Amino acid sequence: MKITIITSSPNKDGLTAACGKHAKDGAILSGAEVSLISLNDLNIPSCNACDNGWGTCISDHICQVKDDFQEVHASLKDSDGLIIISPVYWGDLSESAKNFLDRLRRCEAFSGDTNILAGKPIISVAAAGGTGNGTVSCLDTMNKFVTHLRAIKHDFISITQKTRDYKLNTIKEAASSLCTSLK
Ligand SMILES: Cc1cc2nc3c(=O)[nH]c(=O)nc-3n(C[C@H](O)[C@H](O)[C@H](O)COP(=O)(O)O)c2cc1C
Repeated sequence: MKITIITSSPNKDGLTAACGKHAKDGAILSGAEVSLISLNDLNIPSCNACDNGWGTCISDHICQVKDDFQEVHASLKDSDGLIIISPVYWGDLSESAKNFLDRLRRCEAFSGDTNILAGKPIISVAAAGGTGNGTVSCLDTMNKFVTHLRAIKHDFISITQKTRDYKLNTIKEAASSLCTSLK
């Protein structure tokens, strides 16, 4: 069983990174092989909206802009489940999460039987600051992506600097539960 965990913060030792580590621990506990990807280490800029707004994303289900998106996109084919973790920025996803998910959605939303995420479980995590303002709207955006990707909504988890201690454990348990659901 292969699980991909995607984090999307520039902060190497912040809350998002801690969520990624706990998700990884939980998945490994349940016997998964884990690929942990930090989008901020990659070159995945925003969608070009090629041609008339749709490029090869709608016809061939691949992005025609050649950068690090291709490899991450292709790797998801072999993944049985996905955990995506974004810091809450302005009540929304981080820029790197939005760039990646925008482009992934364009490739997969209309890919029919070849959809590489359809029926696969996804956990979405929104990691916020002390106020927690905008955590719900960030998770709402993640919910829309998961719907368009036609994946299974395994869980949506909020975590803030205040809830960090117990929610990190929740994330570990959720990752373990996702893997158990695949057995
Ligand atoms: C540009 C920016 C916007 C932010 N907007 C929010 C916000 O709307 N609500 C919130 O609770 N925290 C907000 N924060 C705080 C981050 O969500 C919080 O620090 C989070 O832990 C960041 O993840 P990190 O530890 O991985 O950097 C913002 C931080 C930045 C840098």
